[in-house]
Amino acid sequence: MAVSLLSRRLFVCYWRQFFPQKSKFHSVRAPRSKPCSLRNYHRKNIGPVMYKINVATFYKGVSPSCNVSTYDSLVKQKSSGSDGKKCGENEEHPGRHKFHKEVEAALNEQIEIEFKASFAYLSMACYYGKSQVALPGCQGFFMKMHEEEHEHGIVFLNYVLMRGGQVQVPCIGPPDIQDWKDISKTFLAAVRLESQVKEKLEELVELAEKHHDYQLVDLVSGRFLEEQNKSIQTLGRLLTRSKMTNCDIGKHLFDLHVYESFVNNHKDNFMYKSELSEEELKRIYK
Ligand SMILES: [Fe+2]
Repeated sequence: MAVSLLSRRLFVCYWRQFFPQKSKFHSVRAPRSKPCSLRNYHRKNIGPVMYKINVATFYKGVSPSCNVSTYDSLVKQKSSGSDGKKCGENEEHPGRHKFHKEVEAALNEQIEIEFKASFAYLSMACYYGKSQVALPGCQGFFMKMHEEEHEHGIVFLNYVLMRGGQVQVPCIGPPDIQDWKDISKTFLAAVRLESQVKEKLEELVELAEKHHDYQLVDLVSGRFLEEQNKSIQTLGRLLTRSKMTNCDIGKHLFDLHVYESFVNNHKDNFMYKSELSEEELKRIYK
């Protein structure tokens, strides 16, 4: 009898060990033990460690023989950016190389200034294009100025994008003045506008030099400042001539002068014909 009970007891222990859920020998089910196979152990512990080693080696080019805590810190640093910030849309991107935030902000400001100038010239062109005014020379001149300023804005916009920056598209309202009846006041406003733009460009060059953005220095000083100086000179001379108009026939002659000098067959240059070199004249009038 004792032998029978002992053998039964041993059988029950054996059954509970291998089939704990299907035990029919006890009314109270035995607590289910958590599986701890080699596969699960690898998933939990070895897998992540190997992943960290691979990622850290890929990004940093360091040897996998370093300890795991080193890789933890490397992977954490890589996944959170150089400044330790969280990953996101505004995080520093590898395609944004040495593009300083201050320069980016100044460029966005410059984009807004260029588009504002463009809208001011558009307002002037529309005024002189009215049937009640009908000055096609001034209309065409300011329309070309509008296109030029718009192009400047696009150039700066493309530069920001090329450097991996974020363009803040400006919201441009209508110009404060839209009545340009007095031609000399119009050209005075245009000269002042160009002078303000030039001052902003000079500030932009200083900032670009401060942050070692040499391509921007070259772009602004090599292209834009020269154009600004030419525009200021041309507008200044037109301002002088516009002050000579005291009557309607004077306005007509002035407008004819502007039309012949800058609009008619004058494609992309605001210099007087007499001030252009032979090469420039050939290029424009070919
Ligand atoms: Fe401009």
